[in-house]
Amino acid sequence: MQKVPYIALNENGVPTLYVKEKPFLMLAGELHNSAFSSLEFMEKEVWPYLDPLGLNTVIFPIAWENIEKEQGKFDFSLLKGLIDQARKHEKKVVLLWFGLWKNGESFYTPGWVKRDYKTYFRACYPGGIPSDTASPFCETAIEADKNAFCHLMKYLQEYDSEEQTVIMVQVENEIGFLGAERDFSEAAEEKYAEMVPESVNCQGVNWKTAFGEDAPETFMAFYYARAVEKIVSAGKEIYPIPMYVNAWLKQHPDIPGIYPSGGPVYTMLPVWKNTAPSLDFFSPDIYVADFKKVCQQYSADGNLLFIPEARRDPVSASNVFWALGGANAIGFSPFAVEDFLKEDFMEVEEEMLQVLNIEAAGFCCQGTGPYLQQSYEILKGMLPQITKYRGTNAMKAFIRNTPNEKGTIIPMENYDILLDYMQGKTGSAGIILCGENSFYIAGCNVKFQGLPQRASDQYVTVIRMEEGRFIAGKWESRRILNGDELHEKYLGDMAEVKYVEICLHDGK
Ligand code: DGJ
Repeated sequence: MQKVPYIALNENGVPTLYVKEKPFLMLAGELHNSAFSSLEFMEKEVWPYLDPLGLNTVIFPIAWENIEKEQGKFDFSLLKGLIDQARKHEKKVVLLWFGLWKNGESFYTPGWVKRDYKTYFRACYPGGIPSDTASPFCETAIEADKNAFCHLMKYLQEYDSEEQTVIMVQVENEIGFLGAERDFSEAAEEKYAEMVPESVNCQGVNWKTAFGEDAPETFMAFYYARAVEKIVSAGKEIYPIPMYVNAWLKQHPDIPGIYPSGGPVYTMLPVWKNTAPSLDFFSPDIYVADFKKVCQQYSADGNLLFIPEARRDPVSASNVFWALGGANAIGFSPFAVEDFLKEDFMEVEEEMLQVLNIEAAGFCCQGTGPYLQQSYEILKGMLPQITKYRGTNAMKAFIRNTPNEKGTIIPMENYDILLDYMQGKTGSAGIILCGENSFYIAGCNVKFQGLPQRASDQYVTVIRMEEGRFIAGKWESRRILNGDELHEKYLGDMAEVKYVEICLHDGK
């Protein structure tokens, strides 16, 4: 039997996903929440729009309510069908476990959990008013989720460990409590009054004394992480593939409860790491504009970066270059990608976006399809190089992170590359593969130029410039760009790759 997918450092010390012993980078897309619930819908309305986008990985959920409609009776026929479809379409799958918690609520639990308010008691708002979220203090609910998750892992182990279509599992979705800073159920009140548990770095004091205004959020993070640890560690005993949780990010208004309190926002990562050591990493869902900053926050301290949800507007077609080339992400995935190449699809209601605190611009995928398609095609050809150069100086990347950032200078070994971001365009970003006196530059919306290093008394001449593509890691030149075209050293609005050979003179 094949070794299951796993995470390890590559030869350059960068956290890497290995599938069948080979490093695997994901050009991915997540689906709308309800697509997976019908195989017929998937065949007609989803797969035909995924294949041309050039994804190698699809991200979709399997929900607790779909596998255990009746308590104790498991049915994996839907999941089997989904995995079979993915195999037919030659895609890997990141499976989202919609169990007890999805976006701070519990609407994917089976009816028998939803109906039984007593056994599976709810987290409460101040004054003991019950919410629709199962309380992370309800041990029976956690055990029931764990049991279902273990059955799921058993199924994957039996049905998929040979083929390995499912390569990672996300446990729960944007976990945390919405609507209040913490749970005020009776069970939670009791725990909140106790001393902080030993495993948290402050002992002998209660939560409030230990964490001040961050106490409610830290308290929730600890108990959510504790619940997830129970679920994940049990699941991994059965089928130990990589598992992670994803975060609804902190953003204005930056108050826990407006974003799910206790989720793995970056300030809570130390608590999560400490309390849920069976998790492999923590992922940001990036709908905010400051892509680079979030990538930094979630790749710090050796955390593996994977972006399961990204904005749907055309900027994604440039952000993906930074994710893979600049932040060493193992994968990038805009949300609801099945819309991207459809001519008519339903725009999401403003009202829903307000509830989710997602800016409307980031959710509008008008025009994104062809741009992302092009970026994925270019990156697909470069994956062998990106895989090899992750964590070395042979690969560099750039991104315009704010609209008024003008450009940057990328230092090479003997010379520099001056980059001017093209103004008024959606996104400027790219990857540079560096040779001694040559480079490949891939990405969009940037002008480039070789510059001598300061005080070197040298100047730079372009010997040759080509446009072309990488096909399975091999450069295939199309045109030699000379004459008028040599003056136009830029990458356009749709991603492209150029090869440039230069020579340095000292003028003598
Ligand atoms: C983030 C969630 O994780 C997704 O499941 C989805 O609800 C999107 N928000 C918005 O559609």
